Amino acid sequence: MHRLRNNLLSGVSADEMIPLVHPIDRQYGIDTSGVIGYRELRSGKSADKYNICYGGSQPSIIRKALATLSDHQALTFCDFGCGKGRALAVASEFSFRRIIGVELAPSLASIARSNADIIRSRFPDRTPIEVVEGDVLAAPFPEGPVVVYFYHPFYRAMMKKVLNRIENWSRQSEKGGISIIYYNPVYFDLFDRSREFSRVFAQNIEFEPNERGTGPNYHDDSDAIAIWQNVVKAPIPSISRSSYATIKVEPPGWRALVVK
Ligand SMILES: C[S@@+](CC[C@H](N)C(=O)[O-])C[C@H]1O[C@@H](n2cnc3c(N)ncnc32)[C@H](O)[C@@H]1O
Repeated sequence: MHRLRNNLLSGVSADEMIPLVHPIDRQYGIDTSGVIGYRELRSGKSADKYNICYGGSQPSIIRKALATLSDHQALTFCDFGCGKGRALAVASEFSFRRIIGVELAPSLASIARSNADIIRSRFPDRTPIEVVEGDVLAAPFPEGPVVVYFYHPFYRAMMKKVLNRIENWSRQSEKGGISIIYYNPVYFDLFDRSREFSRVFAQNIEFEPNERGTGPNYHDDSDAIAIWQNVVKAPIPSISRSSYATIKVEPPGWRALVVK
């Protein structure tokens, strides 16, 4: 477990990582850069033992995933494990009804709030970003249609519990369409097996040229995204279907790639 955790998000050692200021931090004047190991993220809650680490997802990939959805004004974007709030900053570029981040580590929740304040003051017309400190398992589920976003935040046992909770919400909800966007979908099989959700999208998406070398695994130039929806119950406008693409996880537990 420790060896794997030291490999952080995608199977590289800390020595291989380049400490950089990510271009989105320069663009917005925020702080979302770096990779922080789980030991520095302790909250004192039992969920700590499932925490992997902090690292921000690539904005160009989040943008492409969010652009597959329509009617953003009706949707609440919810980042489960929001870290410093990079995905929240990108979500603020879209006209979501609400934008919410839930973060276990108090130190990161506090940075995410500062970043949210900066975005709010620079872009007062955008949807304000709300940050909730705590375990996603304790977070209330918002009303109305929701987009849940994950970037490989926790180990399998926790992902299973979180998915069970979302499935319960989906069953109880009268009107709430739920889309799940999973960046680096290492535990995609849990979602594929769900009776409540269907996979509607899976693709490797290339980084923008200025993002190359800024991922946790510096030699990568693309990452995988998969999307599931509770389409039968509450159809959200249909998006490109790549439901049958094969996803491979290599190294096991660390990096998901879509293989044709
Ligand atoms: C890989 S980072 C992703 C950050 C952000 N979503 C992004 O894409 O830029 C995962 C984050 O999930 C948080 N996390 C892990 N377990 C959690 C839990 N049970 N509840 C809330 N946040 C959690 C970690 O502290 C970390 O900040």
